[in-house]
Amino acid sequence: MIFHDQRTLNQHLTPFRTAGDSIGLVPTMGALHSGHTSLIDSALKDNVLIVVSIFVNPTQFNKAEDLKKYPRTMEADQALLAAYGDRVCVYAPNVEDLYGDNVAARSFDFGGIEIAMEGAFRPGHFDGVGTVVSLLFQAVNPNKAYFGEKDFQQLQIIRKMVELDALDVEVVGCPIARSEKGLALSSRNKRLNQDQLDHALLIYRCLIAAQQNFEKQSILILQDQARTLFATQDELDLEYFIIADAKTLQPATKKQEKSQYRAFVAAHIDGVRLIDNMALN
Ligand code: PAJ
Repeated sequence: MIFHDQRTLNQHLTPFRTAGDSIGLVPTMGALHSGHTSLIDSALKDNVLIVVSIFVNPTQFNKAEDLKKYPRTMEADQALLAAYGDRVCVYAPNVEDLYGDNVAARSFDFGGIEIAMEGAFRPGHFDGVGTVVSLLFQAVNPNKAYFGEKDFQQLQIIRKMVELDALDVEVVGCPIARSEKGLALSSRNKRLNQDQLDHALLIYRCLIAAQQNFEKQSILILQDQARTLFATQDELDLEYFIIADAKTLQPATKKQEKSQYRAFVAAHIDGVRLIDNMALN
């Protein structure tokens, strides 16, 4: 079942809400792959009904070109979701249904977690994400909403938005789905040939190395080692390798007792930008 507007979507959802059934939301921008379906599978375990939203959100793209280039595969996405049967429905609104006539991002104060890594590379991006997820929550009114740790900073931004707006939604973080060899699944992987996919595994290897050496080495040495590894491979262009506090998302230079750390990577391979991250302790 696919709904293109909030009114018909809610006609479908109301009887479930009235019966006290839990509704799960999985927000996506489409071009679905096994990373997305892993979120749907988690949501199916906890809820009676799942809404998968498909909406390429204009306010989170800081370059008009990227918005234009974003892959749109609605037919294939719908076929994939239809195979789940009645418990999964699709909300694929147009811009007006979600934004009305004000297609603009709200300005949030995320308290600093938006500054480093993706926030530094994509100014305004997280305001756009916070805005669209808040609008999706209003449209669907889910009990729980599912987001991947693949975009760990985004997941924390959404948790913060829920806290700031005091929303009654449980945000569930889901593990990163990877290829057999370890590459984090992404719609962008489709733009890489086999050689490039093999080269891209360096991202995973660096993260694993940092995780394995975390207790033995200082943060500065771990970062240096990762950057050196990237320097040996011409095919990959490292944008950042940063170890940050998993809560504050501030880049770390020294380990503090009881803190949790994650390593974050962004790298380019022939014009395709890949991101990944991993818990270190
Ligand atoms: P999109 O890139 O389509 O991703 C939708 C959800 O799938 C996000 O929560 C993302 O973290 C998750 N995801 C993608 N690849 C994954 C993987 N390999 N393993 C686990 N989860 C994965 O992220 C967005 O869309 C948008 O910013 C959105 C939240 C929908 C707001 O517009």
